[in-house]
Amino acid sequence: MKVISIIGARPQFIKEAVVGAAIRAAGMDEVLVNTGQHYDVNMSDVFVKDLSIKEPDYNLGVGSGSHAFQTAATMIRLEEVMIKESPDVVLVYGDTNATVAGALVAAKLKVPVAHVEAGLRQHPKDMPEEINRVVTDHISTLLFCPTQRAVDNLKKEGITGGVHFVGDVMYDLFLKMLPHLDVHRTLVRFGLREKNYILATLHRDFNTDDPHRLHSILSALRDISREIPVLLPLHPRTKKAIELNIFQPLTGSIHLVEPLPYQDMMSLLIGSRMAITDSGGLQKEAYFAGIPALVMMPDTGWMELVEAGWNVLVDADREKIFRLVFEHEPSALPLEENLYGTGNAGQRIVEILAI
Ligand code: UD1
Repeated sequence: MKVISIIGARPQFIKEAVVGAAIRAAGMDEVLVNTGQHYDVNMSDVFVKDLSIKEPDYNLGVGSGSHAFQTAATMIRLEEVMIKESPDVVLVYGDTNATVAGALVAAKLKVPVAHVEAGLRQHPKDMPEEINRVVTDHISTLLFCPTQRAVDNLKKEGITGGVHFVGDVMYDLFLKMLPHLDVHRTLVRFGLREKNYILATLHRDFNTDDPHRLHSILSALRDISREIPVLLPLHPRTKKAIELNIFQPLTGSIHLVEPLPYQDMMSLLIGSRMAITDSGGLQKEAYFAGIPALVMMPDTGWMELVEAGWNVLVDADREKIFRLVFEHEPSALPLEENLYGTGNAGQRIVEILAI
């Protein structure tokens, strides 16, 4: 069995760390392709090194550009690789441009597509990640769902064949890495005190590319940082948007750092009082870490955490973000029913691939 796995953006390196290891442990042949959508060392190489991902067999070097450019350039380069390698299955992760590009190329070459993190749905329907998810799911042969809700979402769209609830590979990784985290030392390195700071992230295009929303969010973080330290690892997209709008005066009291490696990020999350984020991954990792999150989105693919009262959707509402930092205190972790599986999603995916 030969599998081509496609990665390109930060969250995919994280997912590949789990599934790639399980593929190789099962003795399957894995060809790893990095599209190069993320190319800064802190956005890519650092994950390959820290998470023991194998060196990619192909680096497509696509880089940045418009959505059409990024997707099309990836497709053209991937097609050559797939024709040359002739895989039995192509594995794509999540919802990025690398995901949809990989799925389209494989489907048209009549190679089965396996989608890890299938079935997530959220508004706004025109956000790039949502378009990528819907298209990818509709042309996939195997759909690996992280939650039962994702299975139900697919059913509503008439997709039932090849659908498997396997759990969340990000939960696998969190459990695997937990014993290797040194929260105390990481906090010392960043000059922070336990439960006495907020960890924030901000990179969604609907937040960064709309000056009103960006202003509102940065103002909220600035207001909060006057009461309690706010650590914000800055995504390159957000950095550019801040410079473009000359919003630097808003960030003076916020503790800005470069994008961080996985272990640092998880240690800082565990040590924090709360997360404020528009990242799909971090809002859920916060839950794994036992930390509540304010989610700066109008909707989320992980609605079960909002319904359980653990996370709160705050959109870009400055007043609400500020107020809830001090008022939102969920009483208990809604862990009852293995919402995200039991930490063996990677293993289950490989077992199903092998059938
Ligand atoms: C992408 C994914 C998003 C995911 C995110 C994680 C899509 C549509 N979106 O968004 O789902 O949550 O990755 O980070 O695929 N840039 C750099 N250096 C880099 C990477 C990006 O400077 O290493 C700059 C680019 O020039 C570009 C901007 O950041 O202007 C956005 O990068 P892009 O990969 O297009 O989208 P992300 O916002 O990272």
